[in-house]
Amino acid sequence: MCGIIGYIGKQNAIPILIEGLKRLEYRGYDSAGIALFNKGKIEVRRCAGKIRELENSIKGDDLKSFAGIGHTRWATHGRPSEENAHPHKAGNVVLVHNGIIENYLELKTELKEKGHVFTSETDTEVICHLISSYTQKGHNIKEATQKAIKHLKGAYALGIICEDEPDKIVAVRKDSPLVVGLGDKEFFIASDIPAFLSHTKDVIILDNGEMAVITHNGVSIFDISGKPLKKKITNIAWNPALAEKGGYNHFMLKEIYEQPRAIMDTIRGRFSVETGDVNLEEFSMKESELKKLNKIFLIACGTSWHAALVGKYMIEDIAKIPSEVDIASEFRYRNPIIPKGSLAIVITQSGETADTLAAQREAQKCGAKVLSICNVVGSTSSREADSVFFTHSGPEIGVASTKAFTTQLVALYLFSIAAAKARGVLDAKAAKELLNDLLLLPEKVEEALKLNDSILKIAKEFFQVKDFLYMGRGINYPIALEGALKLKEISYIHAEGYPAGEMKHGPIALIDDDMPVLVLAARDKVHEKILSNIEEVKSRGGKVIAFAVEGDKGISSLVPHTIFVPKINQYLTTVLFSVPIHLLAYHIAVLRGCDIDQPRNLAKSVTVE
Ligand code: AGP
Repeated sequence: MCGIIGYIGKQNAIPILIEGLKRLEYRGYDSAGIALFNKGKIEVRRCAGKIRELENSIKGDDLKSFAGIGHTRWATHGRPSEENAHPHKAGNVVLVHNGIIENYLELKTELKEKGHVFTSETDTEVICHLISSYTQKGHNIKEATQKAIKHLKGAYALGIICEDEPDKIVAVRKDSPLVVGLGDKEFFIASDIPAFLSHTKDVIILDNGEMAVITHNGVSIFDISGKPLKKKITNIAWNPALAEKGGYNHFMLKEIYEQPRAIMDTIRGRFSVETGDVNLEEFSMKESELKKLNKIFLIACGTSWHAALVGKYMIEDIAKIPSEVDIASEFRYRNPIIPKGSLAIVITQSGETADTLAAQREAQKCGAKVLSICNVVGSTSSREADSVFFTHSGPEIGVASTKAFTTQLVALYLFSIAAAKARGVLDAKAAKELLNDLLLLPEKVEEALKLNDSILKIAKEFFQVKDFLYMGRGINYPIALEGALKLKEISYIHAEGYPAGEMKHGPIALIDDDMPVLVLAARDKVHEKILSNIEEVKSRGGKVIAFAVEGDKGISSLVPHTIFVPKINQYLTTVLFSVPIHLLAYHIAVLRGCDIDQPRNLAKSVTVE
């Protein structure tokens, strides 16, 4: 997820672009750049690091311009660096991009064969060369863009300028957001409204396949065939702070609602339902490596450790590879016995967690290969690992991890299928079924998000309790742990997650009519067992909340507070249960007046021991 912005008007464009990028910094902040029309040429200024580095780098430049584009990056292809920063330039074309181009490698090969020379590792630069290959044939920038995007597979929101057509910006989108701001003789494009909200509240929201052409005279909207369109102008009532959160009160809630997009971006271009294959390059691993694996160590901290626990169930069940899970701060000191041919899968949103990095180095020292499942390109874990799989959930600002967690589960699911296929323990038909479910997951998460009001009702009943118990069995036991951790870290209510079968071995002594017990009741081989666990709790006066799966007739008569998530296979039910689990913690914490995005005593990335 990146932030793009463009401006044409009567003011100096530089401070407007820089200020706008700062408003978009929550979308990405590993490198930034601007491009400006200046005396008939396009000047480009870019640098690695945050926007203030860019701002400092252009201080004192004799630059004044009334039209330009800008970009703040969250790297998905190519590490954070000046040469990978946007805007990218090819021939007379300069552009900024938010999204992921799935077929960029094949396009890059074709363009190289035609003599195009590339200077970056990014998918974005390919778009630039593609458009300039049409402007070089005499097409204007609008036509060249229309022709070029026909070759693109994936997601894009583009801001494009051309040296031969000064003071004109072309903007076009598919599956990445793009809005147009209409000021007083000045016009804006951006990934999100906050970028220009202090200048105008009149906005046109571009839909997929729509293009805007902006000049000093105004804005024209077309479909990608060039047919003019009439678009509604929306007046935005938000204040700038609310706008940065996309209208949500907290980043955590915004990130919970971003999950369909985050999952789509994480799976995009990484498998084929038609063939049942997972794209191994995305794990930077070879089939031969997967075949030779005889043990997997899953290592992480906190919520990422919960993902590791789910990963063990997926990997052993689907790929039949013996796996064990470690909390990183334990692994690093326990003198682990790591047999030859082991793989350590290190899971970390930030890629900078001190305990996880130390465990990763310990595993490597003991001879294991390391695969890092990470959300930050250029992070220490991703740079030191032998292989990396980047989750493309975009920056996660809220300290409580949500979208990063569910995209980690998706990454582990893809890995399990890839490993199973490589080892011949999963046939093509079964793989296609599992991958087809993955394709359906984003819309099922959308459906699960509609449970928000029912969850709020439950939160209102229980937000003043002192203790909370979460129970699950099998692959949902880690989700019970996740629910308890989320509640603890943002509402400060003491909560515990337990394997439901353990109740009779102690925790059941806690049950009384003040103790709410949330039970994850999936329709799996232990469904009957979990129903009897519910009976155990109820017979001792405990208050039961159940998360179940649509179609489970038996549970409603047992538990009036039952929330039903959409049906999907047992592995991905963990993702769907996570949605209400996170929403419940969020609403309870809001009702308790807690600081949602920066809970007390916590940090987003624990870079110290
Ligand atoms: C999760 O909500 C917490 N913020 C915390 O447990 C986090 O998961 C843990 O610190 C690991 O962080 P990482 O994924 O960046 O390594």
